[in-house]
Amino acid sequence: KEIVVSGIRSTGFLHLGNYFGAIRNYIRMQEDYNCYFFVADWHSLTTHPDPKDLRGNVFRLLAENIASGLDPEKVALYAQSDVPEIAELYLLLNMLAYKGELEKVPTFKDKVRLQPQNVNAGLLTYPVLMSADILVHRAIKVPVGKDQEQHLEMARNFAQRFNTRYGEELFPEPIAFNFGDNLVRIPSLDGTGKMSKSENEMATLYLNDTDELIRKKVMKAKTDSGPAEPGAPMPETISNLFLLMQSVSAPDAVDNFRLAYENQSIRYGDMKKQLAEDMVAFIAPIREKAQALQQDVPYLRRILKDGAEKARASAAQTLQAARALIGINYYQ
Ligand code: TYM
Repeated sequence: KEIVVSGIRSTGFLHLGNYFGAIRNYIRMQEDYNCYFFVADWHSLTTHPDPKDLRGNVFRLLAENIASGLDPEKVALYAQSDVPEIAELYLLLNMLAYKGELEKVPTFKDKVRLQPQNVNAGLLTYPVLMSADILVHRAIKVPVGKDQEQHLEMARNFAQRFNTRYGEELFPEPIAFNFGDNLVRIPSLDGTGKMSKSENEMATLYLNDTDELIRKKVMKAKTDSGPAEPGAPMPETISNLFLLMQSVSAPDAVDNFRLAYENQSIRYGDMKKQLAEDMVAFIAPIREKAQALQQDVPYLRRILKDGAEKARASAAQTLQAARALIGINYYQ
């Protein structure tokens, strides 16, 4: 079976972008691949979260993953911080990662712009830690959204650099994976970029939103003023709505609105009403299941413990090989 790794930062509730960029693929992959999925709690430390919030976020994220359809019996589901081998590999890879290349990473440059008061070394070496997450299991497929493409390219570079330096193909080169043709990018509801945890709350649909809140957010989604000129390209706000609709609505409904758009009889209010109802039908069962699961802390703890054992067994083998190649295995 091919090895798969992916993680989600424990920084808040899961949103639709996380679901359609990552989790939907996790669920499809769990049958046929050897999957390692984890809560990236170390990655979330770059912003110094309150310890109580962090713990709550980790359990909630776990509950939401399971509620979405992940089966802890089929995959290793664990917290990053329970696998110290990741930190060790991170240290080793840091020796092969150059300041210049790390400073050029667009996500790092964004952070420098957005939080100039907290440009810590963890932020700079974020892609190295992420590479360690992946390479520690020698994964070849990494289900992620479009925003992670660049990080995957760095993981391939580090893998190759290590292999070349130490003269053995220890690490395969991992690729960003999606079951469709392209990596997914779910837009925000206000037409300003991708859906994300930190941006405008009203423009992000969370898997924890109530039915009323989902309706309110969708109905407030930005549309353009009136129909476009015949033959003009579809405005981005409208193509965004179609993208969301394709994700949760029946194909027939999408086709009808597409047709209405083409012959300029579309009413965006109607389209949003339909989208809101389909969104509620999609999110409500996940929300309810996650809320119930979250109460069962002993169950979630057990999952984390089992997951950590599976992940450490795999990671330990990689580290043993890496240490031997580097020459730091003194007792063997
Ligand atoms: P994070 O926590 O920001 O997001 C988790 C996953 O959700 C995807 N995603 C999206 N996909 C489509 N449209 C969107 N609007 C959208 N927003 C988020 C992300 O692409 C990601 O797949 N660095 C990673 C976490 C990470 C990781 C890893 C991932 C750490 N180590 C190793 C894979 C392998 C991150 O910050 O994702």
